[in-house]
Amino acid sequence: MKISIIGSGYVGVVTGACLSEFGHEIIFVDIDQKKIDLLNKGIPPIYELGLADILEKNKHLISATDDYNSAIGATDLTFISVGTPCAENGTIDTVYVRSAAENIGSALKNTGKKDIHTIIVKSTVFPGTTESVVLDALERMSGKTAGEGFYLGCNPEFLKEGVAIEDFMNPDRIVIGSYDDGAGRVLSELYASFDCPKVITGIKTAEMIKYTSNAFLATKISFANEIGNICKKAGIDTEEVFKGVGLDARINPSFFRSGIGFGGSCFPKDVRALLSGAAESGVDTAILKAVLDVNEAQPLVMIDLLNKHIPDLKGRKVGLLGLAFKPDTDDIRESRAIPVISALTDMGAEVVGYDPLASENMSVLFPDVVYAKEISEVMACDAVLITTEWPEFENLDYSGKLVIDGRRVRRAAETAEIYEGVCW
Ligand code: UGA
Repeated sequence: MKISIIGSGYVGVVTGACLSEFGHEIIFVDIDQKKIDLLNKGIPPIYELGLADILEKNKHLISATDDYNSAIGATDLTFISVGTPCAENGTIDTVYVRSAAENIGSALKNTGKKDIHTIIVKSTVFPGTTESVVLDALERMSGKTAGEGFYLGCNPEFLKEGVAIEDFMNPDRIVIGSYDDGAGRVLSELYASFDCPKVITGIKTAEMIKYTSNAFLATKISFANEIGNICKKAGIDTEEVFKGVGLDARINPSFFRSGIGFGGSCFPKDVRALLSGAAESGVDTAILKAVLDVNEAQPLVMIDLLNKHIPDLKGRKVGLLGLAFKPDTDDIRESRAIPVISALTDMGAEVVGYDPLASENMSVLFPDVVYAKEISEVMACDAVLITTEWPEFENLDYSGKLVIDGRRVRRAAETAEIYEGVCW
């Protein structure tokens, strides 16, 4: 198929790159000339494991432009995968989704395209958004009617940063929300070779499946952290507890790793959006509130444990191992290292941070932190706090160190002079 992808952020580029692996022709549309130039050279504008190889290999199938008319005119199917930033009240800001839909609508009109075009929303949007914001913008700008002049659907993604390509290629399921039969048909054809259950449903339901999945995974993590806090006090190994619990087929063992909580661009934002959306419609969401409360408090457990050993942090050097919100990414959005750095600097400590990929991004937020080039600079501090479980941290020698571990690095537990895990 010929596919255009609006927004060459994380989801858009991974989706386009993976679809090119099936021989589809991809045109990325973006407003950022730097991203366009990179993509046209076969270079990823974001870091994701394996992405560079695919883009280089499939250069002949991939192009990028800022011109909607040429991209829409030359393709049959368009994915909208632009950002949905958090608005002030916790809901999502649909400004980019709306503008993408308006531009697609105009292009459908300008190009006078005869073949029926399919538009699919991949951005995570609050249930109802595709059928209100996107549908309205497309019909208004194109002068066409959904279901007749164009097909409309949504197709939420379930990609985890760091393993997004693997997730795309081997999905647990594919969710297709279809406004009309056409969108369902086109996506069923696109994903025909994927051997997994396909849930074909209404658009609002598909949008809600995405939010519910993320909210449930976030709930599992906060629950594991609350139980972990109890285990820590009781001298019980929380990991062993969840091994035993997860063996129940009704429960499943994944996403029970306790520690300092969840970060990233999805869980915190999506739970907040669900909570705000529910409040707007008069629904009280006690569980979602608690999920966020536990997640806010959890990184600060590290500070309490540190204070047990160094009551006055003024002028003391504290090293942080890991700044990214999880390993294998340079992404620091909502990283749990952020509240830890804030608390440490408020207490007068001097913070030395190390991360294989994310130091540059963190330096924009905290210019006064010392960003170590070598891990040894962190190891020379008065205390070492582990905030991201990069695999290389398993190969360090922590002997003689005071270590507060937020992510369960075995080697630290084995070799540190004084070792405190947050939930173990
Ligand atoms: C998450 C979901 O896992 C994806 O399915 C979804 O597609 C994506 O959001 C999205 O909505 O786009 P992602 O944010 O990339 O993916 O990362 P995760 O691997 O889910 O980790 C999120 C956070 O939870 C990280 O800070 C991680 O350290 C933390 N986490 C994860 C835990 O603290 N414990 C766990 O057991 C698992």
